[in-house]
Amino acid sequence: ELGPYNHFMQKEIHEQPKALSDTIEQVLESGFAPSLFGDHAQNVFEQIDSVQILACGTSYYAGSVARYWVEAIAGVPCSVEIASEYRYRDVVANPKSLIVTISQSGETLDTMEALKYAKSLGHEETLSICNVQESAIPRASKLVFYTRAGAEIGVASTKAFTTQLIALFALAVTLAKFKGKLTAEKETEYLEALRHLPGSVQHALNLEPQIKSWAEKFSPKDHALFLGRGVHYPIALEGALKLKEISYIHAEAYPAGELKHGPLALVDEKMPVVVIAPNDALLEKVKSNMQEVRARGGELFVFADLDSHFSESEGVHVIRTPRHVGVLSPVLHAIPVQLLAYHAALQKGTDVDKPRNLAKSVTVE
Ligand code: M6R
Repeated sequence: ELGPYNHFMQKEIHEQPKALSDTIEQVLESGFAPSLFGDHAQNVFEQIDSVQILACGTSYYAGSVARYWVEAIAGVPCSVEIASEYRYRDVVANPKSLIVTISQSGETLDTMEALKYAKSLGHEETLSICNVQESAIPRASKLVFYTRAGAEIGVASTKAFTTQLIALFALAVTLAKFKGKLTAEKETEYLEALRHLPGSVQHALNLEPQIKSWAEKFSPKDHALFLGRGVHYPIALEGALKLKEISYIHAEAYPAGELKHGPLALVDEKMPVVVIAPNDALLEKVKSNMQEVRARGGELFVFADLDSHFSESEGVHVIRTPRHVGVLSPVLHAIPVQLLAYHAALQKGTDVDKPRNLAKSVTVE
């Protein structure tokens, strides 16, 4: 079953070009028509004025990326909340909001309960993004998008996450088109970005030997910090979660602009700091945040793309990710942080596919 791989997680990381192209295929076939999300989607899209995303763990981070896309691409207000928080809060509901639950397994109890709670508050318009056909959460939702990641066995989610991002990107673009906000030019750009993504992801996977050598530096560490900004901040969060989940190294993620507001106090020569730094509008800001880290002796591990103009220097390690695929850059940057966590865990000899204390599907509170 594992083929040439040593672990399911490794196999699933490497299956991403295929998982992504299978998921992208259904998006391309739809031409961003509402029917991509189900027969009633046209009706649902007519009713809604905003989006409320509910999810746990890695699926919550996919939702956190989506918030940037839904607002920037569709101009539709979007909030995202951890399901276990939402379900116990006295929520002031806006019934015109589309409830989007994201769950790889479709069985996560907190996400299911959050969906039920939303319905009890008067929400009728619900969409589930899920990887398991006919599981509980999609069955309880009006609309559904099934990602085509294939079975995910490793407890640490990898290909499910990146395919969720495709589903959410498709939602943002489809909403934009439905609301008459998508120019022909933008549509072409997004289609191109989708078509090129699996190839770029394959290039990112080819960085594995370099990332493995970083992992050797990481495995003896007790702590790590991950930084990103904007749409890449949730990727920093995802990188930190992956690392702590399977290597048991304590890792935290911050939006780089928050450094001075507290976490900078943690930085010294013992603290590795991973930075997601593609060439986007926030790059210059990220660079100045990096100088703050260097000035305190922190060792920087930077994922930069070919256009970011970084050079290696004392205490600054750089891996160049493929030229970033525009708006889908967060999907691409998920790959190196998965590989970093995987190889750090291998070095430490932990049970990569079944990390201690965790289950694949969390059906209890
Ligand atoms: O099946 P779900 O997507 O609802 O699961 C949510 C989380 O339990 C899950 O993403 C968890 O955080 C993963 N182990 C992360 O790798």
